[in-house]
Amino acid sequence: MKYKYIVGANWKCYSKSEREVKDFLRFLLRNTKNLRKTKLIIFPSFVYLSLFKERRGNFSFGAQNMFFETQGPFTGEISPLMIKDMKAEFVILGHSERRRLFHESDEMINKKVISAFKENLIPLICIGENLRERKERKTFQVIEKQLKKSLRRVSKGTLLKKEFILAYEPVWAIGKGKFCSPKEIETVSLFIRKILFKIYGKKVSEKAKILYGGSVNSSNIRDILTKGRVEGVLVGSASWDKRELLKMLKIIEKI
Ligand code: PGA
Repeated sequence: MKYKYIVGANWKCYSKSEREVKDFLRFLLRNTKNLRKTKLIIFPSFVYLSLFKERRGNFSFGAQNMFFETQGPFTGEISPLMIKDMKAEFVILGHSERRRLFHESDEMINKKVISAFKENLIPLICIGENLRERKERKTFQVIEKQLKKSLRRVSKGTLLKKEFILAYEPVWAIGKGKFCSPKEIETVSLFIRKILFKIYGKKVSEKAKILYGGSVNSSNIRDILTKGRVEGVLVGSASWDKRELLKMLKIIEKI
């Protein structure tokens, strides 16, 4: 891969109208032509994926979630085939907002991960401890459990053959303006690699792309990437601000 860092822009439920999204897309098409070091992946709401399908630029895009079945009587769900039909390549799975607000279990996330691999979508799997778990010093325990459960029944062959991304997103740092120190990010990212090494061996652990997410913005992104030893970031609220997103991309291009 040519790029050095991944920036996932998780627009969550921020985009309020088609006009706003079209306007943002025009902005992206104009301002991302010269990205050399950054792989930008935009995650808009499902209903705007078709706008991205029509206007391809120097960035990729994906869905914020998906169901694990390809079709059937599942009212309100979006299948991997529908996401692929929109030409999206990526899908966020196991985001803490899905776990917390929509009661997604590790088992369900695991089914989604398996389905994404099967349907050739690249999963971006989120893991991270909440504030209580952090206070009880259970961070590593939680990370290990979530990682192992989300990759249950995924073979070493699959992980060697296919692309996948992991994101360490401490729940207490998401949307709170509190961000994890680069030192802590580095420690957890090394821990994730260690677990992968134990289960899948050296090649998978070296290949894994690990991102950090949680209140990333233009004032902390440089330190997170250079001192936190991660391959990129997953940005929420700050990525729905055009100028702020551009500022972050410019900082990365200069690292
Ligand atoms: P935030 O969200 O940047 O708004 O903290 C990050 C995320 O949830 O991926």
